[in-house]
Amino acid sequence: MKYTVVLTADYPSVAREILAGEFDVIEHPTEHQRSEDDVITLLEEADAAITLLSDPLTRRVLASNPNLRMIANYAVGYNNIDVDAARDLGIRITNTPGVLTEATADLTMALILAVMRRVVEGDREVRTTGQCVWEPLHLLGTSLQGKRLGIIGMGRIGSAVAERARVFGMSVIGVRSGEPLDELLATSDVVSIHTPLSAATRHIINSTTLAKMKRGAFFVNTSRGALVEENALCDALESGHLRGAALDVYEHEPDVSARLIRMNNVVIVPHIGSATEETRAAMARIAATDVRLFLRGETPLHVVV
Ligand code: GLV
Ligand code: GLV
Repeated sequence: MKYTVVLTADYPSVAREILAGEFDVIEHPTEHQRSEDDVITLLEEADAAITLLSDPLTRRVLASNPNLRMIANYAVGYNNIDVDAARDLGIRITNTPGVLTEATADLTMALILAVMRRVVEGDREVRTTGQCVWEPLHLLGTSLQGKRLGIIGMGRIGSAVAERARVFGMSVIGVRSGEPLDELLATSDVVSIHTPLSAATRHIINSTTLAKMKRGAFFVNTSRGALVEENALCDALESGHLRGAALDVYEHEPDVSARLIRMNNVVIVPHIGSATEETRAAMARIAATDVRLFLRGETPLHVVV
């Protein structure tokens, strides 16, 4: 009897190519707002599944199918999964680390450049007016050279951002998880966060920590929206305490706060940190290869639980 692998979204075709033949593969279209019950229904037949970071894999979902033995989360983050429940239930969890480090660091750098140099505002202006004007005092941004970048979370991605920022002449102060933030917040011209979302890090950026940031600083987030209390961030931007923000992730995805959308000094992109053809294919290869290893009775290479 063949094992059944459920793909909860339209992943790059390499995932199917690795799994088809050896296993029965059931594919579902991509859908970002699934409820627990939706996911329970999708996983009914699954021995293993490749899942989206927006699929809620709570204890109830994981326990709903006694044959379910493995989840390969198509992301480096796995805050959508109750890992304690997976451990209790003996369900193997894997993720896709490493292959998205450079892509996410590139996007972070793109956002830092975009918000400091007002790239998106300029694009909007040219499209709206149909004109390109050169004026001495027009659309003045902030130079990166000589500024300080504070990186909260000096793991793989944070370190890759630091490397890029130094090439642009920025100095870098980084903290690892659990280390105090005060000096970083008080002295950085740009703060970028690169830490996993957990109970300990939820809302680590809030009205108190934002108030400790330098007046006129920028804030950048390409990790998880719920690290930030979004309303407090909007307050800090509207009051002028922060000069700008650049965001790839939002507290209540897929919704983006209307306050953020209204502000010209905020660059907003739709969770595209790992969105390159190369990286998304590499993530699919990793997830599917780990499923295949596991169902063959071998040890997957990227084990979370
Ligand atoms: C994307 O956000 C990921 O965690 O891979
Ligand atoms: C800008 O276009 C310059 O020539 O300085």
